[in-house]
Amino acid sequence: MPNFPSLWKPIRIGSTEAGNRVALAPMTRISATEEGLATERMASYYAAYARGGFGLLITEGIYPDTAYSQGYLFQPGIATGEQADSWTKVVDGVHSAGAVIFAQLMHAGAQSQGNRFRDSTIGPSAVAPKGMQLGFYRGEGPFPVPSEITPGQMEDVRKGFAMAALRAKEAGFDGIEIHGANGYLIDQFLTDYLNRRTDSYGGSPENRVRFAAEVCEAVRAAVGPEMTVGIRISQAKVSDNDHKWSGGAEEARIIFSTLGSTGIDFIHTTEYRAAAPAFGDSGESLAALARRHSGLPVIANGNLDAPEAAARLLEQGTADVVALGKAALANRNWPSRVRANLALDELDGSIFTPLADVKDWELEMPA
Ligand SMILES: Cc1cc2nc3c(=O)[nH]c(=O)nc-3n(C[C@H](O)[C@H](O)[C@H](O)COP(=O)(O)O)c2cc1C
Repeated sequence: MPNFPSLWKPIRIGSTEAGNRVALAPMTRISATEEGLATERMASYYAAYARGGFGLLITEGIYPDTAYSQGYLFQPGIATGEQADSWTKVVDGVHSAGAVIFAQLMHAGAQSQGNRFRDSTIGPSAVAPKGMQLGFYRGEGPFPVPSEITPGQMEDVRKGFAMAALRAKEAGFDGIEIHGANGYLIDQFLTDYLNRRTDSYGGSPENRVRFAAEVCEAVRAAVGPEMTVGIRISQAKVSDNDHKWSGGAEEARIIFSTLGSTGIDFIHTTEYRAAAPAFGDSGESLAALARRHSGLPVIANGNLDAPEAAARLLEQGTADVVALGKAALANRNWPSRVRANLALDELDGSIFTPLADVKDWELEMPA
């Protein structure tokens, strides 16, 4: 009997069969070519996690279009046929090692700090994100004030996600994760202080979640019923770690029930601590609220480094899959180690210096 049996039970999400319930969380590593092509280095990097026992891998945020979506220089894209082709070696390597892989599609919006196609940004309203750009992704200083996105540009974004999802399907990805979290464009629409709109996309939570729901529907329509589609949702942002939804549990009900009726297959929640109450000192976690109100399987992320914590979340029925970020960077074979009752390593902070790109030692066969 392996340790923590709840982690190793196979699961079906949408049309995807994953061999276990431990996922690699999406992590931007700015290790593509300047033109946004996935490299052999990236293929080795992702294959290491598959060999290390992760049942499901979620890629770093990939930009979907050649307009305003790119967030970081050397970020990979899936906005052109050439970029899509470059992903096939990543996908094939992961499949050969026995795991499945979802492409995370990300439109950076006002949180973009490096885009070779545009030198300005767009957001729901002309309000700059809080905080400073990330130095380890080549950013510097405050975020610029974006232009208010026009109705035509909103249509371009929806189409951009849909076309990119189709390219990802053709490249062999098992599923799509729409990045609706962490302060990027879709989350900017959800966020009361960044979205000052007075039309049907601003104001009430029903209005602020409308754009996210439309992107989910557009992606589903593009890829058809047989490909797995989900969305990642958070309260916190890269540019504002402490943000909470002002409408509390009722706002969560509206957001998750709306997303749950768009025809997608899963919700991925991320919080600083996945198991902590979403609002105040008591009450349900964001993962539990997502599961209850959407009726969909939930992937939960945030400080689940200890296998006890990860297993507990599954056993309590709070989530269906756990996703690991920093613990995975420290242990590319976290699942194999935990199954074999081996000790886990702490994360070596030098991985983020001077840039958060893939380091040579990450390409080696995990010990
Ligand atoms: C280097 C790095 C890059 C990240 N890039 C992304 C990303 O591209 N997309 C995303 O949704 N989250 C991204 N995240 C957030 C992680 O997916 C995860 O939510 C966060 O690390 C918290 O989970 P943890 O406690 O397991 O590390 C990133 C995190 C790190 C450390």
